[in-house]
Amino acid sequence: MLTIENTTQLREQIRSYKREGKTIGFVPTMGNLHEGHLTLVRKAKELADVVVVSIFVNPMQFGNPDDLQNYPRTMDQDLALLRELGTDLVFTPTPEIMYPKGLDKQTFVKVPLLSSMLEGASRPGHFRGVATIVTKLFNLVSPDVACFGEKDFQQVAVIRQMVEDLAMDINIVPVSTVREQDGLAMSSRNNRLTADERKVAPALAKIMLEMTDRILLDPTDAQAVIAFGVQAITEAGMKPDELFIRDAHTLEEVTSSTEEAVVLVAAFLGAVRLIDNKIVELS
Ligand code: PAF
Repeated sequence: MLTIENTTQLREQIRSYKREGKTIGFVPTMGNLHEGHLTLVRKAKELADVVVVSIFVNPMQFGNPDDLQNYPRTMDQDLALLRELGTDLVFTPTPEIMYPKGLDKQTFVKVPLLSSMLEGASRPGHFRGVATIVTKLFNLVSPDVACFGEKDFQQVAVIRQMVEDLAMDINIVPVSTVREQDGLAMSSRNNRLTADERKVAPALAKIMLEMTDRILLDPTDAQAVIAFGVQAITEAGMKPDELFIRDAHTLEEVTSSTEEAVVLVAAFLGAVRLIDNKIVELS
C-alpha cells in the first residue's frame, strides 16, 4: 500500500494507473475509520481495479474551531486497517498542502439550495467546505467511481448534484449505513460517547424506525410524526436537534407526488451530535 502526502507524487501515481488502463475507485474520508468506512472501501474494490482512500480532516467544513481541533485523529490505526483490506493508495495531505494560501483565499464550490437547507441551515458553510474539498480531491485522484456513506444523506445529495452540475465524469455510489448490532449507525462520533450514553444511543434509530412506520400510515401528516419524534427523543434522554421528513430525491417537502420520503434525524446525546436517516417507499 502506497501512502502519499504530496500532490505531485499522487498525480504521478494516478497517471501510472491510467497508463496501465486501470479504473480507479475512490473513498474520501476524514480518518478515524470504522466498519462503515471499511464497507465503502470494499465496495470501491468491487467496482474498480485500484482503490484510493484519502484521509484529511477538512478545516473548511467545520464551523467550530473546537470541533476541528477535537476531531479524532488515528492515522496509524487507519493505515493498518486500510493495509489489511488491500487498499492500493492512501492520500494523507496536510492542510497546508490542500489550502496553501489559507482558507480565505481558496476558490470554493457551492451547490445552491441543497447546501443551505436542512443541516446546511444550521451549519452555514459546511456543505460548501465539503463540496470544495471533494472537488479538489476528485481533480487530484481522477476516479471513475467514488463511494459515499448514505448515513450522511444530505452530503450524498449535495455531491451528486455537484457532479451533475459541473459535468464531472464520476460515478457516485451511495452505500447503505452500517449499524452496530443494537441498531446504532456507525460513526466516528460514537467513540466520544460515555458508557452510559452509549446505552442510550440506539434509541435514536428505534425512534426513527417508529417515525417511518407512522409516516406510512399517514404520509400527509409529517408534522405529527415529527412531534412524536421530538417527544420520544426527549424522553429517551437526548436533545432533539433537527428532524425532517422530506422527499428523498429533492429534499423538498413531501407532496402527493413524492414516491420516496426520507426521515432525517439529528439529536445531541451529551456533547455528541448523532445523525441517522431512513428512506420510506410511499408508492
Ligand atoms: O464524510 C466525510 O468524511 C467528509 O465530509 C468528506 C466527504 C471526506 C469530505 O471531507
